[in-house]
Amino acid sequence: MAQARLSGPSGEAIEIIFDTDTIHRRIGALASEIAASKPKDLLVVSILKGSFIFAADLIRALHGADLGPEVDFMFLASYGAGTRSSGKVKVLRDIESEVRGRSVLLIDDILESGRTLAFAKRRLQSRGAERVATCVLLDKPGRRAADIEADFVGFACPDRFVIGYGMDLGHRYRELPFVGRIVETGPA
Ligand code: IMP
Ligand code: MG
Repeated sequence: MAQARLSGPSGEAIEIIFDTDTIHRRIGALASEIAASKPKDLLVVSILKGSFIFAADLIRALHGADLGPEVDFMFLASYGAGTRSSGKVKVLRDIESEVRGRSVLLIDDILESGRTLAFAKRRLQSRGAERVATCVLLDKPGRRAADIEADFVGFACPDRFVIGYGMDLGHRYRELPFVGRIVETGPA
C-alpha cells in the first residue's frame, strides 16, 4: 500500500487510498456521464467546505465535456471538529442563484449518513429546480441514515475516516492532492 510521509513538525504517515491520477481519470469519466444526462441551464452547487477541490476539478472537466455551468456554493456544517457527524445540518451560507426550472448538480465530497445531501437536495427542490442531481467523490454506503443515493459517484470508499483532496480532520489536511487515511501520527 502506497504511503506518504508528511514533512514538517507533525510528520504523519498517510496511507494513500486514491492517488491523484486515479482521481483525475475518474473525474473525466464523471464529466462525460454528467454531460450525457443532458442538463438544462446547468447550475453546479458545491457544498463547502469539503467539496471545493473536487468541484474545481470536476467543473474544469465539465468544460472538457462541452458544458458551461453557472457555479454557486452552499456552506453547510454537520461535523464540527470531530470525526462523527452531529446529525444536524446548519446553513452557514446559502446560494444566490435562481434555481427555478433549471438542472442543478449538487456536489459533495463524501456521502455518508446522507443527511447533508438530502438536506441540500430538498432545499433546492422546494425552490422549484426542475431536476436536482447529486455527485459525490466518495460513497460510504454502509453508513446511510437518510434515504438518498447519489446519481454520480466517483468511488466507493472504505468505512474509514479519510482526509485530503478537500477533506479535513480538525481543519487540517485539505491541501493533500490525494485521498488517504492517517496510519501513524508523527512525533508530538
Ligand atoms: P453525511 O451528512 O453524514 O452524509 O456527511 C457528509 C459530510 O461529512 C461530508 O460532506 C464530509 O464533509 C463529512 N465526512 C464524512 N465522512 C468523512 C471522512 O471520512 N472524512 C472527512 N469528512 C467526512
Ligand atoms: Mg462536507
